[in-house]
Amino acid sequence: MKLGDEVEVLYTQQQIAGRVRELAAEIERDHRGKELVLVGVLKGAFMFVSDLARQIDLPLSIDFIGLSSYGEESESSGVVKITSDLTRPIEGKHVLIVEDIVDTGLTMRYLLDNLSTRRPSSVKICALLQKPSRLRTRIPIQYLGFTVPDLFVVGYGLDSGEKFRNLPFIGAAKKA
Ligand code: IMP
Ligand code: MG
Repeated sequence: MKLGDEVEVLYTQQQIAGRVRELAAEIERDHRGKELVLVGVLKGAFMFVSDLARQIDLPLSIDFIGLSSYGEESESSGVVKITSDLTRPIEGKHVLIVEDIVDTGLTMRYLLDNLSTRRPSSVKICALLQKPSRLRTRIPIQYLGFTVPDLFVVGYGLDSGEKFRNLPFIGAAKKA
């Protein structure tokens, strides 16, 4: 049995690649001549950042931030801790947060508030996925890949108990 056999495909590798190219083109258009920093949220966004960055034909820098949310495994509590901080200041920079998925939005709310205190020129969000049905706080997502139903999704960086991050597609774990 292969890893992917346990997962129902929602977006194929080709669909993701196509959408990533479109998002990159928009980001490129909006950031010409600006000092752009991509801030990837670990670990879920690692694959998305690496594909997205390769499609943006602009000088930019890349940094990562590690966040963990206290509470149950699959439910965000809104109490967020920085487990690994940015390596460089972002003052005066145009920051683009690159996140795998915005679910309740509580993690992103914390990150937006935290990064804003560091005096960046602007902060925008690029999220690969959003589950609108679960949103608990208004989060402005300037660049959104796909909207997904209220299912627990895995693959392309997203995990379930650290499993499935290496799947090249996005899917929903099949019930055992
Ligand atoms: P939020 O604070 O509820 O928006 O949750 C944000 C984080 O929870 C995301 O950055 C993901 O790491 C994780 N998460 C939420 N939904 C899923 C899912 O369906 N699959 C995998 N991870 C998820
Ligand atoms: Mg995440």
